[in-house]
Amino acid sequence: MMEKIVINTSVPYEVLLENGLLGHAGEVTARVVEGRRVMIVCDGKIAPQYLNTVQDAFERNGFETSLCLLHGGEKGKTLATVEQLITAAAKADLGHDSLFAALGGGVTGDITGLAAALYMRGIDWIQLPTTLLAMADAAAGGKTAVNAAGEKNLLGAFHQPRLVLCDPEVLKTLPLPLLNEGMAEIVKYGAVGSTKLLDSIRNGERPEMLIAACIRMKAAIVEHDEHDRGQRRLLNFGHTFGHALERLNDFTIYHGEGVAVGMLIAAFAAVKHGLCPASVYEELRLLLKMNHLPVNTRFRAAEIARIALRDKKRNGDMITVVIPSARGRCELFSMPTRELEGFIACCDENVTACSEDKIREV
Ligand code: GLY
Repeated sequence: MMEKIVINTSVPYEVLLENGLLGHAGEVTARVVEGRRVMIVCDGKIAPQYLNTVQDAFERNGFETSLCLLHGGEKGKTLATVEQLITAAAKADLGHDSLFAALGGGVTGDITGLAAALYMRGIDWIQLPTTLLAMADAAAGGKTAVNAAGEKNLLGAFHQPRLVLCDPEVLKTLPLPLLNEGMAEIVKYGAVGSTKLLDSIRNGERPEMLIAACIRMKAAIVEHDEHDRGQRRLLNFGHTFGHALERLNDFTIYHGEGVAVGMLIAAFAAVKHGLCPASVYEELRLLLKMNHLPVNTRFRAAEIARIALRDKKRNGDMITVVIPSARGRCELFSMPTRELEGFIACCDENVTACSEDKIREV
């Protein structure tokens, strides 16, 4: 049965979740947009798997399609790639009423969304996420960005898609590491706001149920804070340190792996500073390990703090970190930037020291 979740942002839109939905992308999209020209954006890994299905689905419903093929991966998340996409759109003669369709994971969505925000001062776009991470988190909410000046997601815009179509059938062939990294974001949603979701993860609930729970939570948060000025920032749990770990690893680790260890650093520090019960940290660690995610890093607190302080969440001499405060609850915790290293220094003896776990460090 189709799950429909409405995201009530400035321009409301639906997130639909149903097996086989990619094959119906054309008819569903035709109901919400006027234009009939679509440029499908995907990378060379996704194209052989789903491009024909999606292109057919659009053309059967009267859309004229064009294609922009990206070089996949976080390293391709640059302004140059956005320009490549915009050049392809201009060559395909796309006008104001055309749309971009991002077919792929979070990176494809981020690049396509930013190009849609910029092309002709903003055209419509839709998201066709093909990874667990993108379905559960990245595809809804309208955050778009590329990396710039050596910083993750420094250049971006809020530009809500007109539609998000999640087809959980594609998860059946998703490589295991990508399923695992998606689980890191799902654990994040549980930690931020749902003891029920934490229970479901522990009980091995089906991915489509977990995805729907995350999107419902995201809808409730984003509706009140579309532009990430308030409570939406809780969804950055694990990201300040996670982004630092991605950078320290020269983007060779998965985003979800960085987030997994980033959440543990924040949680362990919160416990040590008396801000959170130890059981919250223990459960997070267990859920991440259950999903074959790393729970250690070889980097020391000083290095992690140094990079984290270059993060967007820094505000002058203050930085806000998301910390857990109870099971299924997180809070925004601000501190002077000079105190960040000391705040997480305790992790050197735990999270950042490879201990009994023979799980890969990041
Ligand atoms: N990925 C977190 C957010 O969209 O706010």
